[in-house]
Amino acid sequence: MRPTQAAFPATRLRRTRQSPAIRDMVAENTLTSADLIWPVFVRDGEGVEEPVPSMPGVMRRSIDRVVEAAREAADLGIPAICLFPFTSAENRTADCAEAWSPDNLSNRATRAIKAAVPDIAVMADVALDPYSDTGHDGFVVNGEIVNDATVEALVKQALSQAEAGVDIIGPSDMMDGRIGAIRAALEANGHPNVMLMSYAAKYASAFYGPFRDAVGAGAALKGDKKTYQMNPANSDEALRLVERDLREGADIVMVKPGLPYLDICRRVKDNFGAPTFAYQVSGEYAMIMAAVQNGWIDEERAMLESLMCFKRAGCDGVLSYFAPKVARLLS
Ligand code: PBG
Repeated sequence: MRPTQAAFPATRLRRTRQSPAIRDMVAENTLTSADLIWPVFVRDGEGVEEPVPSMPGVMRRSIDRVVEAAREAADLGIPAICLFPFTSAENRTADCAEAWSPDNLSNRATRAIKAAVPDIAVMADVALDPYSDTGHDGFVVNGEIVNDATVEALVKQALSQAEAGVDIIGPSDMMDGRIGAIRAALEANGHPNVMLMSYAAKYASAFYGPFRDAVGAGAALKGDKKTYQMNPANSDEALRLVERDLREGADIVMVKPGLPYLDICRRVKDNFGAPTFAYQVSGEYAMIMAAVQNGWIDEERAMLESLMCFKRAGCDGVLSYFAPKVARLLS
């Protein structure tokens, strides 16, 4: 228990807020560029940087530009970059075969980054939505998103990413059993050191809208993802998912979205003490940027505050579209 605090005026809590140096001295948390993972959108072509309208300041980049971005990120002390492919229409099929093609966009980008910028970690997303004609993260059979057949496909996708050289695999699909299946396949195929950052507590959220625009999956999506992503009403279920994923071989667990779910981050960190990340998702980024563009809030302050709040909530790091801007500010 806390010791009883002396009453005013012996206790004046403003004493430790009186100057910037003193405030820094007693700060309980810090934010550095080492806390950030930068999600980037990859598209075909060369020399292309195409703005994503619903995410001001965010681009879809061709692989050569992703490599440049990775180099800048590494120079800024950002430890990892996370790839999301904008897949062309002909590569979105019912069998999702492009997902495990060794030469899909994500795998080509991985090889290019690892060759040119060896000191940044590459993370890739495992889920079928960039490659399916339905926009769902799994196979759809008679209107049902089928679990076990999807897991088999996710394993193939994960192995193709490991072979391309990713450091971190991020299964974002929310199928049951995928972490164990992927971990076993990595062990069996000579990739014991590839990390799994499980999207363990991923909610069926309205805040993914701009991301689905960015990867071109929004228009395709039929229905919603509520049979596999979590109900925002639940919190105990997040702990069950995290425990399950850690037992199956996740190295790092993630909560997604971020700011509306800081209570989940705190419970996960307190209960398991495992490396815990949050994803400040596209809709959170879009909300802040929309207010910034209207002159309603200050961009620098809003992004620094929002990211510091993840640290305070117990997160070890954050996936954020603000990563390069923040790292530039902090450097
Ligand atoms: C796909 C995936 C999504 C995000 C990351 N991976 C979208 C979804 O589940 O529909 C969202 C990221 C964001 O909104 O920034 N499985």
